[in-house]
Amino acid sequence: MSIYREWGFSDNPFQTNVLPPSELGRSLLVGRENEWFRLRKKLENPPRLPTIEGLNGVGKSSLVNVASFDCYEAFLRDPEKPMLLPCRKLFQLNPQVDLEVFVSDVYHEVVQTLIEQASYIEGGHIEVDPAKEKLDRWLNSPLYHTFNAGGAGASFGYGTIANLSDGFSRSGFIRAARGWLEEIFPTPQEGAVVCVIDNLELLQTSEKAREQLEALRDELLSVHGLRWVLCGALGIVLGVAASPRLEGVLEPPIEVGGVESERVTEVFNSRIETFRESEHFYIPIMPNDFQRLYRILFYNLRSLLGHIDSYCQWVAEASEQPPISEDEKARWFEEWLREACQSAYESANSQLKPRAWEVFEDAIAIDGSFSPSDYEDFRFNSVAAFRPHVRDLEAAGLVVSTQDEGDKRRKTIQVTPKGWLVQEGMRRA
Ligand SMILES: Nc1ncnc2c1ncn2[C@@H]1O[C@H](COP(=O)(O)OP(=O)(O)OP(=O)(O)O)[C@@H](O)[C@H]1O
Ligand SMILES: [Mg+2]
Repeated sequence: MSIYREWGFSDNPFQTNVLPPSELGRSLLVGRENEWFRLRKKLENPPRLPTIEGLNGVGKSSLVNVASFDCYEAFLRDPEKPMLLPCRKLFQLNPQVDLEVFVSDVYHEVVQTLIEQASYIEGGHIEVDPAKEKLDRWLNSPLYHTFNAGGAGASFGYGTIANLSDGFSRSGFIRAARGWLEEIFPTPQEGAVVCVIDNLELLQTSEKAREQLEALRDELLSVHGLRWVLCGALGIVLGVAASPRLEGVLEPPIEVGGVESERVTEVFNSRIETFRESEHFYIPIMPNDFQRLYRILFYNLRSLLGHIDSYCQWVAEASEQPPISEDEKARWFEEWLREACQSAYESANSQLKPRAWEVFEDAIAIDGSFSPSDYEDFRFNSVAAFRPHVRDLEAAGLVVSTQDEGDKRRKTIQVTPKGWLVQEGMRRA
């Protein structure tokens, strides 16, 4: 049995998945009032595409999921509102992706989303008035029944899309899907399926991102019935938006920062509340230590949750009686944290030369984000002299970088959560 079940939870409260577009996602989303409001306004005001930027693991994808779910809920309560419904999958691009396959995949997921939600409504899980025009166009469409009969896959040979060599089935499916979208959403004001291209930084350079997005512009980004949101690392949207073909297509980015550290105990509490099965549950950590680790990890929620999960495993695996009183819990956590920081520090120490350490310390002093062109701030004469040390830090896992020679403004290098643990280890040594 999983440790969390033994401790009285229905599931792991520290799971690091993206918050889903559902009630669950909404109940776990903390803070974000401002970003949530701005994103909703942008979603409801086509045609320019909302964009989101932020550091790794701060909660970009979760914000989009919950905000688009809220739009959907608002529509179900009041069908006069635009019918925006979240696509069941978040999409990602990478430099190797076959764009044709990508496009098919999108339409497949969009159709599945419309079918799943329609069956959910028909199953009586949600109370709506199906006579309302938009719902009627969707739920009573002959295409819905065509897609649904035997599954969207069978009727169009779509189930085998991954190895589909027959271009006709693919394009036939896409045409039908587009037709259905046009039928359900005759104008952009009526709504759309909200689709996300997540983690744009996976495309490595702004140039590559620009190229792929330009290629997708007519086939996906500006088609009827799809409302795209682009998400990625800090600065990427600016780089992409520089394209003349995307000029005027993108909204300026909503910048998502870390959930304020004063509120991160709410993240802890809402997870405990959501996943505990009764009053009787056990957890070996106190909210203030959760918050402390959040600060050490420099506001990376994903990394925080992952580390807390490791701590819980560590407690469960200890042969001694787990800590019960608040004092004991604090002591155990401190012990675990000391070991974690120390081993991170020692492993980095065995790999890094003194000059790379200096770069690391300077990077910490400026909050961990910088770009190659900042070499003078690090007391180098050229990018070429600076770069090998950054590479050493990267090899040791203390920073991550994406290349973006085309855009000098972008802070393409960042200290990782492991780097922040090392910094804590260094401070304590
Ligand atoms: N506002 C929030 N309140 C509570 N938990 C959150 C919030 N935002 C994100 N999380 C949790 O933090 C973790 C990271 O969130 P998410 O995946 O959305 O971040 P991200 O910025 O998209 O990360 P990445 O850059 O890696 O794609 C997830 O476990 C998610 O459940
Ligand atoms: Mg994400």
